[in-house]
Formats: sequence, structure tokens, C-alpha cells
Amino acid sequence: MRRAVCPGSFDPVTNGHIDIVNRASQLFDEVVVAVGVNKSKNRLFSPDERIDMLREACRDFENVRVDGFTGLLTDFCAQHAIRAIVKGLRAVSDFDYELQMAQMNASLADVETVFVPTSPEYSFLASSLVKEVATYGGDVSGLLPGFVHERLVARLAERESQSST
Ligand code: PNS
Repeated sequence: MRRAVCPGSFDPVTNGHIDIVNRASQLFDEVVVAVGVNKSKNRLFSPDERIDMLREACRDFENVRVDGFTGLLTDFCAQHAIRAIVKGLRAVSDFDYELQMAQMNASLADVETVFVPTSPEYSFLASSLVKEVATYGGDVSGLLPGFVHERLVARLAERESQSST
């Protein structure tokens, strides 16, 4: 069984993530989409919310399941008998850090990182940018699944009303 992990923060999942998961699912027997829930960053959505949205977004992929993980990705890989980490590469600017992580992960465990080039239509797409544009009223509806877009708009409105009270 060839099993791979697609790790990320997915705050929230975008069409670019789904494209990479879809393509990984055609290369491997099983793909685990692993949501990193370490506490270091300020997130818009909770771990459970991010996992729920991913499960809904990936429900049509028969060999894909979604899980959360804390701690090191390599420990998650060892616990789930995973030897391949799939990462999307958008541009050269992603490469330095991704290479560093790939080499660090390979030094920690028996894992290989497989880089998948992002489809050109998603090369500018990042959850952080989507959140920023949506915060200021920009239209990001074409960049996310419809139900994720609705939750994003609702969450930003909640945040806005909390900050103005
Ligand atoms: O979507 P992101 O924020 O680029 O995802 C980064 C993620 C979660 C894949 C990365 O931060 C990670 O693997 N975190 C787990 C902790 C870990 O193993 N750190 C060492 C990486 S070499």
C-alpha cells in the first residue's frame, strides 16, 4: 500500500489545496490530509472546523481521509506508516523553505517529500491572501469551495462585529 500525507494548516482549505490532494490521490493508494494543529499561529478557524471543511471538500475522493496532528509531521508519518509527504509548489519563492523542511524531515525519519507543481490557475493562491482580500471585501468566491466561502464570510463578519463592540 503506497500511502502519502498532504500536510498543511488549511485555514481554510482552498481550491489550490484540493487540486493538490486530487492529484496526489491519483499517484498513491491512500492519501491522508493532515491538518497541523500546533498552537504557534493565530488561526481564523479552529482545528475541528478546518478538519470538518476538509472532510466535506474531499468527500468525493475515495482514497482520501482527513486527520489532525500535533507535534512533528515525521512522528505522524511513523504512526500511520506513511513514507511520502506531498507538497504543492507554487513558485520559486516556496522552494527554499520547502526544501529545508523536506531535508529536515528526511533527517528525522524515513520519509521522502514529493513536490507537485501547483496548477497555473492556482499559482497565486494562499489561504493567508484569501483571508486578507476577503477581510477588505474583495471577491474570493472563485478560489474556495462555495460552502467554505460562506463560512469564511460569516466568520469575518463575526470578527468584525466583535471588534466593533
Ligand atoms: O500550510 P502550512 O502552514 O504551510 O503547513 C505547514 C506544516 C503544518 C506542514 C508544517 O508547519 C509542519 O509540518 N508542521 C508540523 C511540525 C513539524 O514537523 N515541524 C518541522 C518541519 S521540518
